[in-house]
Amino acid sequence: MILSQFIYTSRPFGFSGPMLDDILTSARWLNTRDGITGALICRADMYMQLLEGPRTVVNNTFARILADDRHVEVTLLYVGDTLERMFPDWSMRDDPPQSWMWNRAEVREGAMQEASSAAAFSVFRRLSCLPPERRAI
Ligand SMILES: Cc1cc2nc3c(=O)[nH]c(=O)nc-3n(C[C@H](O)[C@H](O)[C@H](O)COP(=O)(O)O)c2cc1C
Repeated sequence: MILSQFIYTSRPFGFSGPMLDDILTSARWLNTRDGITGALICRADMYMQLLEGPRTVVNNTFARILADDRHVEVTLLYVGDTLERMFPDWSMRDDPPQSWMWNRAEVREGAMQEASSAAAFSVFRRLSCLPPERRAI
């Protein structure tokens, strides 16, 4: 079955540990229901998320995420088709940004909003080859 992959970036609005827990708990519940998998790179200054699953449900999920007031400046970076999931075992993996991604100064200057779709895709491709890290906020 052909699946869609969406990658977007956004800026948290009112970020806190409990808020992130809420987001992840509902994301995992809804994604399990909907057949979506993916990963959320998260820190107080940035979100970057890959969603993958059947096109219609990924579209609907992205529409709900767009309307969520817990983040702002939602920018779609990549949309593509695939036969193979990148995060088949994760209803929503969560990771802090890695040192090889954008640093805080680059994030502040909007580097992620300006990232190419190829750069966004390769961030998740590389992340998918690494074991998950414990979250540090
Ligand atoms: C950064 C971020 C990531 C999210 N990821 C997901 C997700 O993967 N799946 C999902 O169903 N909702 C996700 N949500 C939550 C949705 O925005 C929304 O609250 C949820 O789908 C429930 O939709 P509703 O409030 O319209 O009922 C995310 C929200 C934020 C802020």
